[in-house]
Amino acid sequence: MKRISATLKKFTPRSLFRRALMILVLPILLLQVVVAVLFIQRHYDGVTGQMATAVAREIRFVISQIENLPDVDAANEMLATIAIPLGFDFSLRPDDRVEPDAVRALYDVTGGVIEETLKDELRRPMALDLVTYPKHVDARISTTKGVLQVLIPRRRMNASNPHLLLVWMTTISVVLTTVAVIFLRNQVRPIRELATVASAFGRGRSLPFRPSGAEEVRRAGIAFVDMRNRIERQMQQRTRMLSGVSHDLRTPLTRMKLALAVIDPSPETAELSRDVSEMEHMLDAFLAFARGEAGELSSDTDPVELAEEIAEDARRRGRELALVAEVETPGERAVSLRRQAVKRCVVNLVENALAYGDTVSLGVRLGPKSVEFTVEDDGPGIPPDKREEVLRPFTRLDEARGQNIASGVGLGLSIALDIARSHGGSLSLDESRRLGGLRACVRLPR
Ligand SMILES: Nc1ncnc2c1ncn2[C@@H]1O[C@H](COP(=O)(O)OP(=O)(O)OP(=O)(O)O)[C@@H](O)[C@H]1O
Ligand SMILES: [Mg+2]
Repeated sequence: MKRISATLKKFTPRSLFRRALMILVLPILLLQVVVAVLFIQRHYDGVTGQMATAVAREIRFVISQIENLPDVDAANEMLATIAIPLGFDFSLRPDDRVEPDAVRALYDVTGGVIEETLKDELRRPMALDLVTYPKHVDARISTTKGVLQVLIPRRRMNASNPHLLLVWMTTISVVLTTVAVIFLRNQVRPIRELATVASAFGRGRSLPFRPSGAEEVRRAGIAFVDMRNRIERQMQQRTRMLSGVSHDLRTPLTRMKLALAVIDPSPETAELSRDVSEMEHMLDAFLAFARGEAGELSSDTDPVELAEEIAEDARRRGRELALVAEVETPGERAVSLRRQAVKRCVVNLVENALAYGDTVSLGVRLGPKSVEFTVEDDGPGIPPDKREEVLRPFTRLDEARGQNIASGVGLGLSIALDIARSHGGSLSLDESRRLGGLRACVRLPR
């Protein structure tokens, strides 16, 4: 059962359009084949049989008439008079003999029925030739007056134009299928549009979208637009609230700084002012996090160029950074992303690596479907059970590890993750196999 469904799945088309088309067209096709086979087989064979029977009876009557006549001359005379009303061509050959035989073309479907019916009805030795004359059957029948040759028009035994039904059926189904294809295309388009807009939103882009199409599809579209608006509102609200809080905290902090400046310096005030400036630094980071890179629009960016820029910035600050670029799609290097945001994301990872390790390498890989920035270092790394934890805002491991290398806030990785997610991408932390420290990888879809 599982295997059957697996095979079925392999052969059923994947897109909705093709599936719907298949559901629509397959029954029509099947019905046509069944109707064509059954109807043509039964109907035309039946009709041919009946018509051939009538012809055979006429010939039997003619034969019985000429056999009752005294001689061949009288028979010929009679044949001449009845040939026209019956529509046959007769000729009598008194000295001939019949070799029972039947020739017909392979493709002559009704020929078999004709042959059988004539033999059944006449019950005499006869030779049938359905090949020589295209529109006549040549029958030679043995009688007491010799061999009677009859040329019977095929028309009298076949239903005329049997292909007409097929032609009509095919034409109509082609027309209907074309109409169905056009309608289906129009029905599937809004669903495709919805999918495009939804995945763009997942990557942080808000494309214009007007729900259209069938009732259900439109409802899904409206629900999506509502949801998108709600999410956007919520994000705005969060940003506004966080930046409001940070902003309000700044004023008392500035006052404290002023007060500290006028107090006589002592070890206590020095500590206090260090605390105050640390708080200020934290607030700055916090504000940056809350604000995010909101408002920046996606633009076509060359990731390799971006990576070079980051490496150059690090070099200017006196730190060396090995850059490894791998481009799988040399023809198309531009990726649509929010440049500043992505730069900040990678810079955060690089800053961590530079803070914790000595040797740092930045890799950028441009694939057909995604772009990856990998930052590796030879620092202490992050133990596997902590990797999820450090992605949370305000999480720092250094205090627990007794290190005090960088006086961070613990927002760098959360911001990086946030930016990756807003592009529909991901951020993963691993152990660097090459350098032994942390390997942070941002993967963004293109
Ligand atoms: N390359 C690394 N090697 C070892 N530990 C790291 C590395 N990167 C991050 N960590 C650990 O993860 C914690 C969180 O990093 P995150 O960048 O979020 O904050 P931070 O660097 O402490 O502060 P900031 O907000 O200034 O970046 C760090 O405190 C550190 O303990
Ligand atoms: Mg950091």
